[in-house]
Amino acid sequence: MTEAILLVGGKGTRLRPLTVNTPKPMVPAAGVPFLTHQLARARAAGVEHIVMATSYLAEVFEPYFGDGSAFGLHLEYVTEREPLGTGGAIRNVSSRLRSGPEDPVLVFNGDILTGLDIRALVAAHASSGADVSLHLTRVTDPRAYGLVPTDDTGRVLAFLEKPGSPEEIVTDQINAGAYVFRRSVIDSIPEGRPVSVERETFPGLLAAGAHLQGMVDSTYWLDLGTPEAFVRGSADLVLGRAPSPAVPGRCGDRLVLPSARVAPGAKLSGGTVVGERALIGAGARLSGSAVLCDAVVEPGAVVTDSLIGEGARVGARTVVTGAVIGDGASVGADNELLAGVRIWCNASLPAGAVRFSPDR
Ligand code: GDD
Ligand code: MG
Repeated sequence: MTEAILLVGGKGTRLRPLTVNTPKPMVPAAGVPFLTHQLARARAAGVEHIVMATSYLAEVFEPYFGDGSAFGLHLEYVTEREPLGTGGAIRNVSSRLRSGPEDPVLVFNGDILTGLDIRALVAAHASSGADVSLHLTRVTDPRAYGLVPTDDTGRVLAFLEKPGSPEEIVTDQINAGAYVFRRSVIDSIPEGRPVSVERETFPGLLAAGAHLQGMVDSTYWLDLGTPEAFVRGSADLVLGRAPSPAVPGRCGDRLVLPSARVAPGAKLSGGTVVGERALIGAGARLSGSAVLCDAVVEPGAVVTDSLIGEGARVGARTVVTGAVIGDGASVGADNELLAGVRIWCNASLPAGAVRFSPDR
């Protein structure tokens, strides 16, 4: 049975303030820590042993997932003393792997929501005989990713991580953050220092003539690295557009966790999730949004494509669109928060303090 490494040690900088108290993979999406969806999908593909490579806020993973038996998995955790980067993190967990030198080992970035057929990636790896196989996807603007041009057999020609110049934009195929490594390749990564698998290991392997194979797959794919993407990913899980066996309820227009309370006359749509013990007031309208546990949305508030953090409060009639309200923040009544605004954890905004409209 193929085993897997999960890279979950990044700082999640672009997702702040969601990642101030919580590492990115533990921020709830569709009612459960995002990582739960990845673990459930790996388990459904037959993966049983997973090693988590942790660094930033490493201490929160094990208390939640434990030894993995509740998820039908055997989980292990390895924490870096200093962040080792993606390649260093993979090398650092190598002693926990059970695979032989020729066996395939799966590696996943910990912030990807995808419908990838994991078994198909492992099968393609076996049939091509590659040293490393990579899941690739196509995006309209590849600049924020690793560009991976291939020949017409899928063999990787180059690996260009976050290219800076226009001449380097040679393809719309990007690294989708799921790999199969031949075990012995993992052991060839230098030990005990930071290594970027994207900037050092992959280009180095190519230069040495190794066989890297790309598998382009056009299934659902999203990197949840920004607030906008995270909110969309959560809504797509609730709607059933993004497949996950771990959504805690039936997929549909909304998901209300059992201990949440939604007042009559409140409208929830577009994949909105209401977390444990959260309260939604009368006449509030929420669309495509995630309300985390213990948050309160007061009567008449209108929340669209936004995330309301743990224990945060949105005042009556306040409009929140494309925004993130940090854990424990309190937004008074009659505010208008639009267009990517981030309210920091525990911040407090008086009633009517922020308006985009000229009237009140
Ligand atoms: N353990 C550990 N230690 N994990 C780390 C470290 C580290 O020092 N640095 C990053 N990670 C983890 C992150 O937690 C995340 O799960 C994964 O490695 C990738 O890091 P991101 O910070 O999310 O990278 P990115 O999104 O900018 O780019 C990566 O993903 C793209 C696809 O979404 C690259 O792999 C790109 O090539 C790729 O296209
Ligand atoms: Mg990412």
